[in-house]
Amino acid sequence: MGRSVRMIWLPILLLLLLESGMASDYLIGLGSYDITGPAADVNMMGYANTDQMTSGVHFRLRARAFIVAEPHGKRVLFVNLDACMASQLVTIKVFERLKARYGDLYTEKNVAISGIHTHSGPGGYLQYIVYIVTSLGFVRQSFDALVDGIEQTIILAHDNIRSGSVYVNKGELLDAGINRSPSAYLNNPAAERNKYKYDVDKEMTLLKFVDNEWGPVGSFNWFATHGTSMGRTNSLISGDNKGAAARFMEDWFDQNNGGNTSSDEFEPNRIPRRVSNIIRIANDNHHELLELAASFESLPGKSTTRFLSLSRRVRSVLRQADRPKFVSAFCQTNCGDVSPNVLGAFCIDTGVPCDFNHSTCGGKNELCYGRGPGYPDEFESNRIIGQRQFKKAVELFSAASEKLNGKIDYIHTYVDFSNLEVTIPKEGGGTTTVKTCPAAMGFAFAAGTTDGPGAFDFKQGDDQGNAFWRLVRNVLKTPTKEQADCQQPKPILLDTGEMKQPYDWAPSILPVQILRIGQMVILSVPGEFTTMAGRRLRDAVKKVLTSGSSKEFGSNVHIVIAGLTNTYSQYVTTYEEYQMQRYEGASTLYGPHTLSAYIQAFQKLATALVTGKPVEPGPQPPDLLDKQISLLTPVVMDATPIGTKFGTVSADVPKNATFKRGGNVTVAFWSACPRNDLMTEGTFALVEILRGKDTWEPAYDDDDLCLRFIWSRPSKLSAQSHATIQWIVPQTAAAGVYRIRHFGASKNLLGTIKHFTGTSSAFVVA
Ligand SMILES: *[C@@H]1O[C@H](CO)[C@@H](O)[C@H](O)[C@H]1NC(C)=O
Ligand SMILES: *[C@@H]1O[C@H](CO)[C@@H](O)[C@H](O)[C@H]1NC(C)=O
Ligand SMILES: *[C@@H]1O[C@H](CO)[C@@H](O)[C@H](O)[C@H]1NC(C)=O
Ligand SMILES: *[C@@H]1O[C@H](CO)[C@@H](O)[C@H](O)[C@H]1NC(C)=O
Repeated sequence: MGRSVRMIWLPILLLLLLESGMASDYLIGLGSYDITGPAADVNMMGYANTDQMTSGVHFRLRARAFIVAEPHGKRVLFVNLDACMASQLVTIKVFERLKARYGDLYTEKNVAISGIHTHSGPGGYLQYIVYIVTSLGFVRQSFDALVDGIEQTIILAHDNIRSGSVYVNKGELLDAGINRSPSAYLNNPAAERNKYKYDVDKEMTLLKFVDNEWGPVGSFNWFATHGTSMGRTNSLISGDNKGAAARFMEDWFDQNNGGNTSSDEFEPNRIPRRVSNIIRIANDNHHELLELAASFESLPGKSTTRFLSLSRRVRSVLRQADRPKFVSAFCQTNCGDVSPNVLGAFCIDTGVPCDFNHSTCGGKNELCYGRGPGYPDEFESNRIIGQRQFKKAVELFSAASEKLNGKIDYIHTYVDFSNLEVTIPKEGGGTTTVKTCPAAMGFAFAAGTTDGPGAFDFKQGDDQGNAFWRLVRNVLKTPTKEQADCQQPKPILLDTGEMKQPYDWAPSILPVQILRIGQMVILSVPGEFTTMAGRRLRDAVKKVLTSGSSKEFGSNVHIVIAGLTNTYSQYVTTYEEYQMQRYEGASTLYGPHTLSAYIQAFQKLATALVTGKPVEPGPQPPDLLDKQISLLTPVVMDATPIGTKFGTVSADVPKNATFKRGGNVTVAFWSACPRNDLMTEGTFALVEILRGKDTWEPAYDDDDLCLRFIWSRPSKLSAQSHATIQWIVPQTAAAGVYRIRHFGASKNLLGTIKHFTGTSSAFVVA
């Protein structure tokens, strides 16, 4: 639009805005940035399986953020991470950076940082010992990728702030989660259970962000299901089902250009838009971009580094072409007892369903596994659960009509959960005071779940414990009688709250927070609430917000729980579920009244929110960065066989090969450790298509689900390594001539890092 045209339209636009009563519009800004992290040698966070190390990329991890502000008032910022959970230390360091950059605009009070709970991301970024045992301590690279990526995401969102509105919509998604501890759920009172049709929450709540000039610019939704579609042996970095759903929805919007292609017709494949973007941008005479596009033509071998940085910039430049790229996030909520392995849990030896109360097979937990809808292919299960969430989100997005109106507000406090007095209703009337306990984990914690059974002789629903582990536990810390009584009936395996050597094993000070956008209310909780625990918390907050004399909230208030937010403290079950001591109960750290303590804390926050009275900031959680111990060996050096260069193809496509759609193209290269350069906002792998006589254009990269980058060493201590790139040709791929490229960086004995690239022979897709 030329300036003169815009000047004519502006007053009319303003008139229209006033006319339709849109004076209450907000300022909105969205952003997204790569947080993939180290794709080799780092233990994955989630299953606590020491053997599950990163060794490649299924697709990339991202941090996605939205800001909503009143034009001259308060603002809130929500960041969703494709990570297992938020980390106290990451949160603390992000706030230090925000303070340096923006002063008091974004603080712990109005910012929430939440994790989607993928179990396939690099670990070692949490500060408490119990969460970094399997990663051999702290992993600086994982930590930095998160802190840097979150900061970049927030900068993008902040720079994108413009006038717009937010809509909310809700709907049921029935087939993306089942209860994995139904025997614990059944211990909740029948009268309470009878109020609900299902034993997990089926509701998805979606926010749609609409720019006043550009139209829709993004969506965030909350739905409860674990990030455990990928199993405990997967080693490719992956955003699991929520990351996949986000990838699908952003690609859908790109292809669809904001129009109304049904999600049924959509095939995950985003390159047509990307290639056409390069061409379109070039046509628009953007000087720099023209140059970028041109650089994809015949690249001389010498310009490797130049190409690398160019391929990076093309991605980020495309993201910001004429407007910010559409951002869609799939956020986590009360997923504590919700599994995406919807076919149920079966014994791998006999194929029969596992024991109902203990999730065992012939008394052993390690044979009991949940099955996803793509069983036995976990990639397929992941795609299906991702696609189900994506389709529901598109439906809610397309039909969203309820606009958020009213105040932006927030309230935050820290609470020491290790020794809290909680007033709860007494049976037969009146109230009584109970206490929380220092953190402790029960024996059933070590049994794991049907999504990832533990390795030892533990079973869920264990209120006895075995002698050997009691012994091991005693070496670490014998619980006091007071602690054992407080945690009853949990048999204590790890008395983490009382273990302080070499530094704190578990958190005790936790952040609780409420963000408000008009009639939408987000409860930030630092853990995994089970279905019923989440329902009780939401109901308690709703009661405070909608009853009483305050007219702040009408009866129409939408409450979501943002799970795994700001820090991590494992599970929160109801008192009744806790009695069953399944995995979730054994992992409810602060004793049987943990949930009641949360409810009490949130009732106080909600009361303060409606009355406008401030709350005490509470005790500060510790910053343990300086105490962190790291045992992960750095990359010593990379090597190739004599006479072979990094990037040389070691297993090529067959000469003059032709592949059909759905075919499997696999190529291998001599490579180096991916930890030398994380290729943030870049790629380790690229599929290129030939345009014209000698112009190769990027078609797919390691962020596409059809492409897998797999890194391996011939032996554990070898300096040599391979990059294997597998491309399953999508049904939507254009016919043509293709080739596969690999990008990497090698380290020599002196520690110098050098970038390299390798290219396969060309092949045909017909
Ligand atoms: C949306 O779909 C309807 C019917 O399917 C079609 O008539 C209309 O042109 C579409 N609009 C856009 C913007 O594509
Ligand atoms: C599970 O445990 C409950 C109570 O302990 C018992 O009544 C029930 O029969 C058990 N169910 C199965 C299938 O073993
Ligand atoms: C491969 O194709 C080229 C050109 O199409 C042809 O000259 C050559 O003989 C083919 N090679 C083989 C092994 O089929
Ligand atoms: C593709 O082929 C490779 C090598 O033949 C094989 O190892 C891999 O499992 C295949 N990938 C898929 C997704 O089928």
